[in-house]
Amino acid sequence: MNMKELVTGCRTYRKFLQEPIPRETLVEMIENVRIVNSARNAQPLHYTVAAKREDIEAIMPLTMWAGAIPNGLGRPKEDEYPVAFIFISKIADGNSWSDVDLGIAADTLCKDAWLRGYGSAMLGAINGPKIAEYVGLKEGYELKLAIALGKPAIKSTVVDVKEDGSLTYYVDEDFNYYVPKRPFEEIVDFI
Ligand SMILES: Cc1cc2nc3c(=O)[nH]c(=O)nc-3n(C[C@H](O)[C@H](O)[C@H](O)COP(=O)(O)O)c2cc1C
Repeated sequence: MNMKELVTGCRTYRKFLQEPIPRETLVEMIENVRIVNSARNAQPLHYTVAAKREDIEAIMPLTMWAGAIPNGLGRPKEDEYPVAFIFISKIADGNSWSDVDLGIAADTLCKDAWLRGYGSAMLGAINGPKIAEYVGLKEGYELKLAIALGKPAIKSTVVDVKEDGSLTYYVDEDFNYYVPKRPFEEIVDFI
């Protein structure tokens, strides 16, 4: 898979097949993200992996999905739940660079998952404190982001922005997603 294929396929998936992800795969993904770039090499992040069905069921009510799809219809149903979550927490020391580290780590995990055939959804709209309490997060860390994982049960396609200029993603009758992206000319200047 080349980079173009990777960034095209690695979309946000919100419905998953109920096939578990082997623990070794999750371990390898954490091993990879362990050594990515970090501002001042401070490495302020901590990862919590949850892949037991009982934990997924307990955590799902603390997550919000697809705000742009009306009536909560973008939320996965029980038989479409992710099969694993990786939560990313950061040391609560006010270091603003740690948000950049967080983005790098989240992207690494999602791209790594896609290279292994798993889809992902980064979720920022979560009840971080409640999830932190549930997973027993260590003192001094804030739980910032959830990455939901599993084999996608739907497709997602990048499309051009329509004439009305809306960037809002939308779905078809089978809940396949269409994700408008701004055109090349709009987002870049070569000087
Ligand atoms: C930092 C971040 C937080 C996000 N939080 C949520 C979320 O809470 N719930 C959700 O359904 N999608 C969430 N998303 C997914 C975005 O909605 C999605 O990336 C966007 O619609 C573009 O789709 P694409 O990822 O397929 O390009 C988040 C994405 C990012 C990068």
